[in-house]
Amino acid sequence: MLTLVTGTTGQVGRRFVPRLLAQSRPGERVRVLVRDTARGEPFAELGAEVVVGDLRDTDVLGKAVAGADAVVNVAAAFRGVPDEEAWAVNRDAAVELGRAAVASGVRRFVQVSTGLVYGEGRGRPVTEEDESRPGGSMWGAYPASKAEAERELFALEGLDVRVGRLPFVYGEGDPHLAQSLMWAKNWASAQRLHVGHHVDVAQGLLRILHAPGISGRVYNIADDAPVTAVELHQLNGAEIPGELYERVDPDPWLVIMSTGRIRRELGYRPVYPSVYAAREAGAL
Ligand SMILES: NC(=O)c1ccc[n+]([C@@H]2O[C@H](COP(=O)([O-])OP(=O)(O)OC[C@H]3O[C@@H](n4cnc5c(N)ncnc54)[C@H](OP(=O)(O)O)[C@@H]3O)[C@@H](O)[C@H]2O)c1
Repeated sequence: MLTLVTGTTGQVGRRFVPRLLAQSRPGERVRVLVRDTARGEPFAELGAEVVVGDLRDTDVLGKAVAGADAVVNVAAAFRGVPDEEAWAVNRDAAVELGRAAVASGVRRFVQVSTGLVYGEGRGRPVTEEDESRPGGSMWGAYPASKAEAERELFALEGLDVRVGRLPFVYGEGDPHLAQSLMWAKNWASAQRLHVGHHVDVAQGLLRILHAPGISGRVYNIADDAPVTAVELHQLNGAEIPGELYERVDPDPWLVIMSTGRIRRELGYRPVYPSVYAAREAGAL
């Protein structure tokens, strides 16, 4: 079994690959796609094969999937990139990777997506049965392109596609929790962010990768305790701006996800059910 993972130089991928390698059985191999040779070296040292190239280059995709049995597409462009790049990487390249996978006989394709694809809140935790509803304060090219990638990948014939929708991911030195203040400083005090620790994101993705008979299924991955704007300030040791208490949360259920399905069907249980459990364990 050979598994190709993209996006391994990013926050999620670089923490996922060592876990994938650690639970590999003898004979199971991992290949990573990176854009820069030097940034592939740490993965080679861990025992992964390295292919160098850009996801938007179709020749590279052929090389990346050659001989692979499974793909985990972690790569995405959303941190400060122009909209065209978000569409080119998140939708077009993801779908091309899916086509290359079909052409080369790959059996399984895990698409890493985001809870932001749900769009507007529904007044309750969103479930995988909820259609994408464009809108809400977090909508834009990133969630729109990820939502379309999901749809187009599911439409490919001959590929077992599974999707994991991630929350706001944090932990293990990822600066994301501190970066959350960029948004949270403009929120209402009780406005919540659904989060998940890297350990649990990796756990969820590994369960989705390995489970038999779940072709076409979507799974939300998150912890049990969304954090409020006030808590985000406290967790980061930042002063709480007074304006937070004057604002009203426009959509209290925005991207708050149910994890019932992944618990029931795949046995997922968050190692860190809350950010406080992770802090207590020294895992921030
Ligand atoms: N982090 C979160 O809170 C969060 C939340 C929800 C969903 N997700 C999903 O989780 C996945 C990983 O997110 P992340 O936070 O790890 O993102 P990240 O830190 O920005 O990493 C993105 C990765 O994608 C790679 N990439 C981007 N454009 C590429 C291209 N044209 N060709 C090849 N590789 C390319 C990057 O490579 P370079 O290093 O070369 O740029 C990097 O390895 C994404 O699919 C994202 O949608 C993340």
